[in-house]
Amino acid sequence: MLSEATRNRIEVLRQRYPEARSALIPSLQITQEENGYVTPEAVQEIARIFGLSPNEVYEVASFYTMLYKKPVGKYVIQICTNISCLLCDCEKLLAHLQVRLGIKPGETTPDRKFTLVEVECLASCGTAPVVQINEDYHEDLTIEKLDLILDSLN
Ligand code: FES
Repeated sequence: MLSEATRNRIEVLRQRYPEARSALIPSLQITQEENGYVTPEAVQEIARIFGLSPNEVYEVASFYTMLYKKPVGKYVIQICTNISCLLCDCEKLLAHLQVRLGIKPGETTPDRKFTLVEVECLASCGTAPVVQINEDYHEDLTIEKLDLILDSLN
């Protein structure tokens, strides 16, 4: 169940676009802010608000890696494994993350501190390899730099 404040924010967004459906992605982001991820209940409610089927809403949510379909950790580590990052040894970073965190892509550590996600291009190919942790980009990474970043996260 979405809060009244969230429903109001979605209504304001809907009116901002000539085609209300264009507000779907930001509306899903708003529900994620409220719940930490896009819950099945939020999908149902947004579908009702937009006059769409829940499947149509879920199709949009499932396309975007920034929309989480299940609970995530405090820090979401998105590692790009597309071609530029691949050429710059992102696979070593990914292997290191899996060993250090004890999880595979798509999983969350038992203490719910970290979620590891493998993603397509983060649009920073010139500074590969790249990892995004929550809203922050970390570029030209090495295992040593990555460890320092992880050590700094409380
Ligand atoms: S390929 Fe990794 S940021 Fe583009």
